[in-house]
Amino acid sequence: MASEPLSIAGVRSQIVGVDRQVPLLDGSERPYINLDNAASTPALRPVAEAVNAFLPWYSSVHRGTGFKSQLSTRAYESAREAVLRFLSADPDEHVVIFGRNTTEAINKLARRFPLAEGDVVLLSLMEHHSNDLPWRGRARVERIRVTEEGELDEDHFDHLLRRFAGRVRLLVISGASNVTGYVNPIYRLAMKVHEVGGQILVDAAQLAPHRRIVMGRLDDPAHLDYVALSAHKMYAPFGTGALVGRRDTFAEGSPDIVGGGAISLVTVHDVAWAPPPYKEEAGSPNVIGAVALAEAVRSLEAIGVDAIAEHEAALTCHALQRLREIDGLVLYGDQRPECSAARVGVISLRIPEVEDGKVAAILACEAGIGVRHGCFCAQPYVFHLLGLSREEIARFSEAAARGERQQVPGLVRVSLGCYNTVEELDAAVEALARVARGEYNGRYRVDAEGEYYPEGYQVEWGRYLPL
Ligand SMILES: Cc1ncc(COP(=O)(O)O)c(C=O)c1O
Repeated sequence: MASEPLSIAGVRSQIVGVDRQVPLLDGSERPYINLDNAASTPALRPVAEAVNAFLPWYSSVHRGTGFKSQLSTRAYESAREAVLRFLSADPDEHVVIFGRNTTEAINKLARRFPLAEGDVVLLSLMEHHSNDLPWRGRARVERIRVTEEGELDEDHFDHLLRRFAGRVRLLVISGASNVTGYVNPIYRLAMKVHEVGGQILVDAAQLAPHRRIVMGRLDDPAHLDYVALSAHKMYAPFGTGALVGRRDTFAEGSPDIVGGGAISLVTVHDVAWAPPPYKEEAGSPNVIGAVALAEAVRSLEAIGVDAIAEHEAALTCHALQRLREIDGLVLYGDQRPECSAARVGVISLRIPEVEDGKVAAILACEAGIGVRHGCFCAQPYVFHLLGLSREEIARFSEAAARGERQQVPGLVRVSLGCYNTVEELDAAVEALARVARGEYNGRYRVDAEGEYYPEGYQVEWGRYLPL
């Protein structure tokens, strides 16, 4: 339970570990600035408190008759209700299946969604590998193009719908890009794909922490059939994600993973599956993770998802305004500060003279700022943004196959959470400006993975955490 009422103004004080001192190359320490929220967010205090409050009651769920098992089962099942409410899903039509993360959720749907020879799955060039690879080989995969800047090309989507009329079973699309922060028009796309008899999965890994999502009832043409999300990107890093999807899909067929908990009755010859969601969650579930996710969505609701979106848009606007002033820094995606409300706060950039990995290392070791670099598990999209030719991509693939991944080009990504401040963004902008001017102190060496390390950066890790 929250120790004080949650609000966007007070959210920073509700972040576990905010302002933790971290060591720099010059031997000093500085409060950590986390601008890598698209990868993982820190925990919200109410989430950590809910986990601590639950731990003394923790016990096995579903089949235990003892009081703690009964209570744990109630906590686990009520987590499903919290997630359904958060997504405005209908409990009669939608079901919450807990798993480890978005990747697992999408893989499950790819294995469980009924697809036949000749069926078409549409996905976009901006997808994270987790919403691309699971579909390969499951159907004919057709990729929706993106514009040069990386925005979804909706005309091409319309074209594919016409071209594969009667065969499009599913559109799988990110709610927001983890590279450029573009927010896709998911409800309009849903209407269009429903019109031709298909369904839609929204990969909400980057959308759920930043925007209200309305799955709606199935008779609403703009409803969402499936949503996948990860709790560790929603201030609840306890190993849980969810696939929320149509009950009727999971009522049919056999589960992809079989074992204890998934059945209604087993004989040596036969098995009768339990109803969904139980048949989809074989084995003992991550109860703590579900409790944490439930508290996270309650907390996000209490802060106000719209207030979060507004606050993050203001931060994104400020960051873009300032980043555009840095000579020699290249921004990707929509760079217009005035359009910040239409995207999430994920900003990718490059300083052409300095490798992306080196920029990230300088920020970490000389400014105490955490960002991410590389292709962010969206290589086809990043290669497109970088304008790489087929020949260049082939050359980088060969280098990667030889274990020389340092040759693969990439971007630097600054990604915001609802607790970040203008001062933190200013610190990042100033650090990037210094890098662009060549003003950094360390001598950096690169390893085969493309990670840079400054010479002489000796950290006593055990001082920070017993390892
Ligand atoms: C858009 C998108 N989809 C899927 C994923 C995969 O999420 P997870 O690693 O939690 O499975 C990510 C992670 O960064 C993402 O950004």
